[in-house]
Amino acid sequence: MRKPIMLFVAILIATFSFAQSSGFSKLDEWTKVWREGQQTYFGYPVNQESPLHEFYEWYLSAGMDVINLNNAGDPMTETPWRMSSHAFERDVIAYFAPLYGFDKDDVWGLVTHSGTDGNNHGIYFGAKYLYNKTGKQPIVYVSDEAHYSNMRLCDLQNLEVRLVKSDSMGRMIPEELEKSLDVSRPALMVYAMGSTFKGAIDDQAALNAVLDNHPEVMVYRHVDAALFGGYLPFTAYKDMVSHSQMRFDAIAISGHKFFGLDSPCGLFLCTREIYDNQNNYNVTYLNGNMKMINCSRDAVQPLKFWWLIQKVGYEKWSEQANQIMSCTAYLKEQLEQIGWPCWSNAYSNTVFFKRPSQAICYEYTLALGYDDRFGGELAHVVVMQHVTKEKIDRFISALRKTR
Ligand SMILES: Cc1ncc(COP(=O)(O)O)c(C=O)c1O
Repeated sequence: MRKPIMLFVAILIATFSFAQSSGFSKLDEWTKVWREGQQTYFGYPVNQESPLHEFYEWYLSAGMDVINLNNAGDPMTETPWRMSSHAFERDVIAYFAPLYGFDKDDVWGLVTHSGTDGNNHGIYFGAKYLYNKTGKQPIVYVSDEAHYSNMRLCDLQNLEVRLVKSDSMGRMIPEELEKSLDVSRPALMVYAMGSTFKGAIDDQAALNAVLDNHPEVMVYRHVDAALFGGYLPFTAYKDMVSHSQMRFDAIAISGHKFFGLDSPCGLFLCTREIYDNQNNYNVTYLNGNMKMINCSRDAVQPLKFWWLIQKVGYEKWSEQANQIMSCTAYLKEQLEQIGWPCWSNAYSNTVFFKRPSQAICYEYTLALGYDDRFGGELAHVVVMQHVTKEKIDRFISALRKTR
């Protein structure tokens, strides 16, 4: 009786491993690394439970895999051109616009290549808007703990940047903004939401109050909400990512972080006022005035976004946002209980703590940081959908063993 069962199990295993094999050992090894590491991928802000399996099944069964799909052109301008997924991209923008406090008739947006691409548009649009309105080049103000893409993009766009000091938890200090403000030039604010390592959220109300004291300075505000722009709209803190509440002009969010797209993409939204005051380039072969930066764009990412809106949607995203918040609090409590020095910012799903052994950092793919004010070597966990309480328990028990 035992022999046939064992045989059955062996056949199952053989079939399963055969189905998994690509025929290339290098590729199979690589796949194994990801399949094993996926569940303990704690240090980086991506949702490792991408709900796109059925999308791929549909994609293959519909024969879309043999077609070259491209979304070149402005997705918000309807044209007679039918070979694109612009109609889906417009649906995606229409769905997210109210979640970020934009009026449906006063928004322009697109599905970007990444959070960085969204920041590129946010900074570029801001610089051109301020210049076209005032005839003066703006100065960019950004916190010294904001994501490096902002500094890199300012470099690329040849913009003058003032790095404004942040407090020990990573938030831009309003008094430091006041000190660095040049009132003779327009201000291009980049608000970090949040900062890369500590997950800090710049206090937009306090920073806006500083700017309001200088009505002579024309201000444009871009919010870099790559990570937090994903889950905050589904929480009680949704006003923090609302254009109508916070008065920002543009916002960038990553699609592959909270929303669970399985490869880089993002959202960029701005008001019509900003869009309408960009430099014009009429491109006849694309049927219009191309204000955005990229020509060829991925046509599949808007489809995936659209699919997720139908299949996951508001209620499930709200549940996931609550789960993330409660697991973040749980992780912090558990670290405190074992006496492991740890910190986190309000509204944030990032907990940073004294750096554990190299082996644990490696096993849990932790991201590393350094700050003398917190005792030197640090690491962080970004609590995404796959970082559940059970996995946190295993992580804590691994930490405990190393002490
Ligand atoms: C606040 C912030 N801005 C920008 C980025 C860059 O986004 P992406 O990796 O989508 O280009 C990140 C990535 O982690 C981030 O956390």
